[in-house]
Amino acid sequence: MPDRTQTIAYPAPGSRPSRRDPEPLAPHVIVLFGATGDLAKRKLLPGLAYLQQSKFTPDVRVIGTATEDLTSDEFRERARKAVETFGTHKMSDEEWAQFADRLEYVPVTAGPDALASAVKAAEELLGPDARRLHYLSVPPKAAQAVIAMLRDAGLVERARVVMEKPFGDDLATAIDLNDFVHETFDESQIFRIDHFLGKEAALNILAFRFANGLFEPIWNRNFIDHVQIDIPESLGLDQRATFYEPTGAFKDMVVTHLMQVMSFVAMEPPTALEPRAISEEKNKVFRSMLPINPGDVVRGQYSGYRGEVGVAPDSDTETFIALKVEIDNWRWAGVPFYLRTGKKMAEGQRIISIAFKEAPKTMFPSGSGVGSEGPDHLTFDLADSSRVSLSFYGKRPGPGMRLEKLSMQFSTQETGSAGDVLEAYERLILDAMRGDHTLFTTAEGIESLWDRSAPLLEDPPPVKPYQPGTWGPNAIHQLIAPRAWRLPFEREWRQAKQ
Ligand code: BG6
Repeated sequence: MPDRTQTIAYPAPGSRPSRRDPEPLAPHVIVLFGATGDLAKRKLLPGLAYLQQSKFTPDVRVIGTATEDLTSDEFRERARKAVETFGTHKMSDEEWAQFADRLEYVPVTAGPDALASAVKAAEELLGPDARRLHYLSVPPKAAQAVIAMLRDAGLVERARVVMEKPFGDDLATAIDLNDFVHETFDESQIFRIDHFLGKEAALNILAFRFANGLFEPIWNRNFIDHVQIDIPESLGLDQRATFYEPTGAFKDMVVTHLMQVMSFVAMEPPTALEPRAISEEKNKVFRSMLPINPGDVVRGQYSGYRGEVGVAPDSDTETFIALKVEIDNWRWAGVPFYLRTGKKMAEGQRIISIAFKEAPKTMFPSGSGVGSEGPDHLTFDLADSSRVSLSFYGKRPGPGMRLEKLSMQFSTQETGSAGDVLEAYERLILDAMRGDHTLFTTAEGIESLWDRSAPLLEDPPPVKPYQPGTWGPNAIHQLIAPRAWRLPFEREWRQAKQ
């Protein structure tokens, strides 16, 4: 496994440090709360194993903790299965042994003192500079208990804490939760994770927008007609009814992932790619959002949802949502942002589509086909191997003047650096260890999102049924008319040549 640490943009040796340089990586004890849960199994343990294997985090020790009574050996066995099943990179026996050697388990039932002494023992092995990263992969109610426990166990100093959504249920509960956490940790120690922002493709939006003279000048209401952020999922509840039933698609996906991605699409250029500047610009987007009008929202529920185990027979939870969001600022006034996501839909996709205003068509002969296939589009695919496509009209070869939609496409797969892609959690854990808040959300940002969501939360439109395997209830077409949803795509992405 090559040492990839050189690929991070660290300052060159001897160069003058700037405020944009990340903190060098100190040795870390990572305490993983919820270590036997689904997220730990699918993402966090495989991610930590890869970070160690690739030498991004050479000096870490991981202490798993959860309610289950396991020995450290039993936990290592589970971690090995998780890495084998869900890991994105193969590990040799020797690499596994190196990682396993750094894993311990302390059951919650052993109490705060047992956890504190395991942390101390790990710190002794790592030396005096060791820091702590507490990863709270637990539901919000349990998160409060964990924070109290960290305080009682004296594990707050030299520590950072990563918290998973949902950050409250509405403005009042978000404020309460933020206040509660702030009693123990200051904001600089808190990392509220939204894994969509850790995806390479999400970061590429910033690179694409701000590094290119071609696109930067046209990124506004004078040239852009509308934007779609469309994240249909083909998967269903996946045994998560206890979480999903009180949450629903809006709180699970929109007020979190889709709006965070939207802020990257819509923000003004930050003064630097550093946390404060980026948070400021993101928060300005959220503050400029008009309160969500329930009349601009379609809530859907797939047929059969009410029969799922753990779901109320008269449940009003939406498993689908499509909505129009307006950002009422100088750049975006009058440009609608359409957001859609749902479970058990026809396809799993994650796209952002920018539709440009159309050119006048009068010079082309009638029947030329100009404009007949919709406006020019710039499309980002947020898949791990990200893709970008720019569609435009071009002349069909041959006599006369027939126009057709063509496209230029780019895929990370074709660059030979697809193997360097960090999974979102890997990147974000690494950033949290370096104290880099750039891709994390702030208390203020979360609170303004809840504030703008209040009209919808207070008066949600009734859920409309949709058949599993479709694109949602019919009302989605009225919501976007006279425009149209990009998905399903009329033309497939081109496949990379092997
Ligand atoms: C999670 C949601 O945060 O994101 C899930 O709770 C959703 O419901 C998932 O399926 C989607 O993330 P990804 O990265 O798998 O597309």
